[in-house]
Amino acid sequence: MNDAPAAGTPPAPGYRIFEDARLDARNTFGVPARAPMLVEVPDAAALPELFGNAMLRDGPVLVLGGGSNLLFAGDPEGVVVALTGRGRRIVGDDGTHAIVRAEAGGEWHDLVLWTLGQGLSGLENLALIPGTVGAAPIQNIGAYGVEVRERIHAVEAFERATRTLHRFSADECAFSYRDSRFKHEPDRFVVTAVELALPRRPELRLEYAGIGEELAAMGVDAGAARPSQVAEAVCRIRRRKLPDPAVIGNAGSFFKNPMVPVAQAEALQAEHPALPVFRGNDAGVRKLSAAWLIDACGWKGHREGDAGVAASHALVLVNHGGASGAQLLDLARRIAASVRERFGVAIEPEPRIVGARW
Ligand code: FAD
Ligand code: EPU
Repeated sequence: MNDAPAAGTPPAPGYRIFEDARLDARNTFGVPARAPMLVEVPDAAALPELFGNAMLRDGPVLVLGGGSNLLFAGDPEGVVVALTGRGRRIVGDDGTHAIVRAEAGGEWHDLVLWTLGQGLSGLENLALIPGTVGAAPIQNIGAYGVEVRERIHAVEAFERATRTLHRFSADECAFSYRDSRFKHEPDRFVVTAVELALPRRPELRLEYAGIGEELAAMGVDAGAARPSQVAEAVCRIRRRKLPDPAVIGNAGSFFKNPMVPVAQAEALQAEHPALPVFRGNDAGVRKLSAAWLIDACGWKGHREGDAGVAASHALVLVNHGGASGAQLLDLARRIAASVRERFGVAIEPEPRIVGARW
């Protein structure tokens, strides 16, 4: 990369370069990985110049956020690019909805808290999801009955091949359950900012199992709950159910809940009445609980060396300290094989696997 500044060089052109960068602390599994080069970009306006470099424009690139939805099963091949701009502001307001524009590098949960502080609702069910704002549209993050696509007004993304900035409406992002156009074309686009349309009058969504009970335990009447109280209830449930990556390495759910044809879901439920079955992406399919399927195969709390399955949730693979990404991937493959063998259902990883194929 001889037409770019040397390692450790200054913020002047709008980016910082680190050679032979360790990524251990940049992935929430906490597995070891190295990149030949890491470029931090505080200002997305520097992207056209940065991607003028042939190595970045045409070679392998990994766009990295908080590393909470990927598994380094090997080292990334090319340059790792991380956006660090964290700006956010209200850019529009029609009296019922405000449009919030947030740069990609900010923490998602900080943005949720900030919007609540501005008197805006709509993101309360998505509180405490780790990672960055820029990654939120990649897999259409979702939790407790809400997906971010319902709040997305536009996604701003830099296309590296053409070095142009695009603005996609929510429809153009092709969102579905844990999916978007960006997930199908990894690293073609660098998401630089997200615009969210957030209601000024709360439209609370309390139907997901556990939220009402949690509000009641907090002494809050669900009918009179404020968005910040819903966010607090969601945080409490999440802290109880999901291991904290600061304590034990993990990437949240390792598998997506599988979609199967209605007839297959009905046959499985007839045989296993306790299997939770939910609505699917469309009328012909149902979503099965991957956690239940994995749990039923006996994996919950399983441990092999430092690679394991969380004791609190069967869908979460954990690194007890010294596991490698390859060990975690090997365990994940065997979990998926056992679910396929026992129930005839294929489960797919949710996180991006870097350095290996699923
Ligand atoms: P990374 O892991 O860094 O990247 C994920 C993918 O997005 C990669 O393909 C990467 O290349 C791409 N990417 C990242 N930033 C950009 C960008 N600016 N432009 C283009 N591509 C980019 N997810 C949910 O949906 N719901 C949950 O409830 C949830 N709970 C979780 C709980 C825990 C404890 C953990 C560890 C994870 C959880 N996740 C959940 C997964 C994760 O938090 C989200 O997917 C999050 O959006 C990932 O953000 P990140 O910045 O860490 O992305
Ligand atoms: N269950 C088990 N065993 C377990 C855990 C759960 O049988 O060990 C069963 C229970 O019956 C439970 C059901 O599975 O009712 C569903 O569990 P949960 O409510 O925890 O939801 P999930 O389907 O496991 C999904 C998302 C989470 C999200 C929660 C809350 C996926 C892949 N995961 O988990 O997202 O936070 O719902 O909305 O869709 C993530 O994507 O990383 C993530 C954590």
